[in-house]
Amino acid sequence: MPIQQFNFFTDGLQPGQRQTSDYIVNTNLEDERLWIPFGPGVAFQPCQFNVSNGGFIVILRADPGAQMPPHFHSTSVIGYTLKGNWRYLEHDWSAVPGTFIYEPAGEAHTLIVDPSSAEPAMILFVVTGGFIYIDKVDQGNMLAYDDGFTILEIARRHYLEVGLDPKLLDAMIR
Ligand SMILES: [Fe+2]
Repeated sequence: MPIQQFNFFTDGLQPGQRQTSDYIVNTNLEDERLWIPFGPGVAFQPCQFNVSNGGFIVILRADPGAQMPPHFHSTSVIGYTLKGNWRYLEHDWSAVPGTFIYEPAGEAHTLIVDPSSAEPAMILFVVTGGFIYIDKVDQGNMLAYDDGFTILEIARRHYLEVGLDPKLLDAMIR
């Protein structure tokens, strides 16, 4: 679930925590502990928390039947489908493994995976700013907000809960 109370985030901005060097992340799509819950049937594995532009890079996993709350992004987003099928309720296309997507800033959408899908969808999303949840895509009211900082907070909570070292997350802060 998105964070609904705004905090002033300083984590990740400490000079000692924020690195500039190259790094790799070995995601493991089979390791359930590494999947950070992000709502009913939706989880992510992080690749980057970008404290420079407020964005983040994740592998998003959405189970068959999952539906993310409607939202729009303050900046553009790109995605690449690794596994499964998924779509936005607002569009007539369906993404399959290999589908690349570009989302312009401000386009509101509702991500779903059809209940009949054989497997979860897994998508690499490169998000370059915050996103705002709304109650409906047309003339919607704002409900909540997420960005690289809130995602980092959610990830840290999960890592502490399941006994993973949060320093693994700090290494992804840029
Ligand atoms: Fe989105």
